[in-house]
Amino acid sequence: MDSQLDPSTSPPAPIAPDLRSQWMLRPDVAFLNHGSFGAVPRAVFEEQERWRRRLEAEPIELIGRRHPALIEAAKEPLAAMLRVRPQDVGLVTNATEGVNAVLQSLRLAPGDELLTTTHVYNAVRMAMRHTASRHGATYREMHVPTPLASARQIADTVVGALTDRTRFLMIDHVTSPTAIVFPVADIVAACASRGVEVLIDGAHAPGMVELDLPALGAAWYAGNLHKWTCAPKGCGFIWVRPDRQAEFHPTVVSHNYGTGLAPEFNWQGTRDTSAWLTIPAALAFMEKLGWPRIRQHNHALATWAHRMLCERFGVEPLSPLDGSLLGSTATVRLPGALANLDEPQMRALQQDLYTSERVEVPLFPWQGALHLRVSCAVYNRPDEYKRLGDVITRRARV
Ligand SMILES: Cc1ncc(COP(=O)(O)O)c(C=O)c1O
Repeated sequence: MDSQLDPSTSPPAPIAPDLRSQWMLRPDVAFLNHGSFGAVPRAVFEEQERWRRRLEAEPIELIGRRHPALIEAAKEPLAAMLRVRPQDVGLVTNATEGVNAVLQSLRLAPGDELLTTTHVYNAVRMAMRHTASRHGATYREMHVPTPLASARQIADTVVGALTDRTRFLMIDHVTSPTAIVFPVADIVAACASRGVEVLIDGAHAPGMVELDLPALGAAWYAGNLHKWTCAPKGCGFIWVRPDRQAEFHPTVVSHNYGTGLAPEFNWQGTRDTSAWLTIPAALAFMEKLGWPRIRQHNHALATWAHRMLCERFGVEPLSPLDGSLLGSTATVRLPGALANLDEPQMRALQQDLYTSERVEVPLFPWQGALHLRVSCAVYNRPDEYKRLGDVITRRARV
């Protein structure tokens, strides 16, 4: 293939000039960790401020009388993006809360098995363990070893681990430590034929991959909006398939108990709803840039950065270099002795990368070696990943 056209060997052009200036991030930092907590454009931040002022100006009118209508209106563009009915989705503070609502709504018997993979996000692991221990059920993580060659390999490994006792599978849409897009629709279909209900942890997926939640077939889908849709922090959602809604409730049970998913989630006690009310503004901001263009840019940047860093570090990739298993994040093993740092050394390096080098990128162990994960957001530029490559290779030589 002509190297000029190969997305893994040349980075994409920006989709608009100087997008970074529309975000509030420190200009001197190479911010390569959009994936953890996201970052809001200034315009979205200002819209949330406007909501906070309005809520303070008219607390009873807006938090009392008009609250249900305001929340339903805020959910509409979200529901359109997820291709769901607004009444089937509830707003939550974050994906952890959505996952906990699902786990608390499960009816389990002693001996039932809750299953997930070793790519699970740690907070979700803890919530699953807690649920299993409360019911005398078992919690199991199947190992899906890297490197991974194909979506089929992932689906076969996951489905092959189901047993007669598996009642519930929690599967990530985009994994946090390994940055792999899992073939969730295929996995859900195989689970359905075995009577296993599936929760998809889509914390990273909205804005990163195109979504049609009902088409995935899962019973529940939890997602975050503060990551790749650039909504304010405090915006997550839980979608529930209609046939599972009767026994489903928020983690916080309040006035509207038993009245249906939408009203139960819309009121969970007095709170600052400004983040939720800003969801339409965040989606409109991104929509104006164009979702297909955003996704294409971010994926192309991740595919290029993944190859470039694997080659510079001289390490084996966790997934194919053509980017076929990536979204807009990529995980790469650290080179040489850096991969063997212990926990305190890792923490020291993490802090030093930020303080001395002004590079923000997460470090963490995976399969016994330290890795980093780069996020590729619409405001990131190729030179930031080259800077990361320089810094890490320099430190690997010392
Ligand atoms: C896969 C996955 N699940 C769940 C979460 C939890 O998200 P939050 O902290 O917003 O609840 C994260 C956070 O990064 C994640 O990566």
